[in-house]
Amino acid sequence: MIKNKPIYILGIESSCDDTSAAVICNGKILSNVIATQEIHAKYGGVVPELASRAHQQNIVPVIQQAIQQANIDKKDLNAIAFTRGPGLMGSLLVGSSFAKSLSLALNIPLIAVNHMQGHVLAHFIEEEKQQKPSFPFLCLTISGGHTQIVKISNYFKMEILGETLDDAVGEAFDKSAKILGLPYPGGPLIDKHAKKGNPKAFKFTKPKVDKLNFSFSGLKTAILYFIQKKTKENPTFIKENIDDICASIQYTIVEILFDKLKKAVNETKIKHVAIAGGVSANSEIRTVLKSYEEKLGWKTYIPKFEYTTDNAGMIAIVGYLKYLEDNFSNQKTTATARLKVNEN
Ligand code: KG4
Ligand code: ZN
Repeated sequence: MIKNKPIYILGIESSCDDTSAAVICNGKILSNVIATQEIHAKYGGVVPELASRAHQQNIVPVIQQAIQQANIDKKDLNAIAFTRGPGLMGSLLVGSSFAKSLSLALNIPLIAVNHMQGHVLAHFIEEEKQQKPSFPFLCLTISGGHTQIVKISNYFKMEILGETLDDAVGEAFDKSAKILGLPYPGGPLIDKHAKKGNPKAFKFTKPKVDKLNFSFSGLKTAILYFIQKKTKENPTFIKENIDDICASIQYTIVEILFDKLKKAVNETKIKHVAIAGGVSANSEIRTVLKSYEEKLGWKTYIPKFEYTTDNAGMIAIVGYLKYLEDNFSNQKTTATARLKVNEN
């Protein structure tokens, strides 16, 4: 491989409710276009059938825009990387079919990417003032579908040390928000209200879960009963206390996450710790992790905000890393709804 030769990879992400395309050149993002599907907000969650239809409408303009913004011609592309899974089957099919057709039309290689590896490896996107993790490191991977502590020994050697036994942490945020009457996705709204509230105003019991695993379904039920009881006594309870309720919920969730993360660091003796996935956009999680640099001597890695929630930049970086290893797929590659972070 000639070191300085520009390698252009187009990344395509369509696993859930964001249609995204990005162009990366030698690890540096040139464009990262995201069309977020607003339609799901009024349904209180992602409606799979509507998601795949919206992907079909968005995919061509989003890819065109990504190529245009990167200021290249599609003929300059060296490979197409796409999300193979995990995700919603109908949504994945739109991105994977498009990627396959484009790779045929341009006669360039196809690279299948595991969405979860994308979240983790987004840390390797070339960014000014952003240090890349050194191996091995631990990654708290937190999104709408996942909550895991992963040990990353090298780009494609990942081991799940612990994971949720029921709901993902993103679901805990979104379902709590729904109970409070906030629209989907509620995670960012809880974060916003929490900034103005008292985290110790209300106390929610933390679950007792074995090993490095998590559980969030009990918390959701506890919040539901608490809100039902309080609104019975005072119908305007939520409105009057929204900031304190959100701060208290967020405080509990953050404690649950960091209790286990600290345990993982103690057990593995690995003090290099990263966060990844949509929930890593949470301001409190970012603040607490950063504070452990001084408090506990950890070296921490916090992704740039735009690479936390679903985006094709993270798919493009995995595409680039696989390209360097000649790790290509072919037209027979199929989308898959289930795929673990340690599966390629
Ligand atoms: O990674 P992602 O974009 O999609 C999945 O692959 O699931 O994660 C989406 C999740 C949603 O549950 C959303 O509420 C949550 O990330 N989220 C947040 C914040 N921003 C996004 N949760 C808490 N605080 C935030 N600031
Ligand atoms: Zn995701």
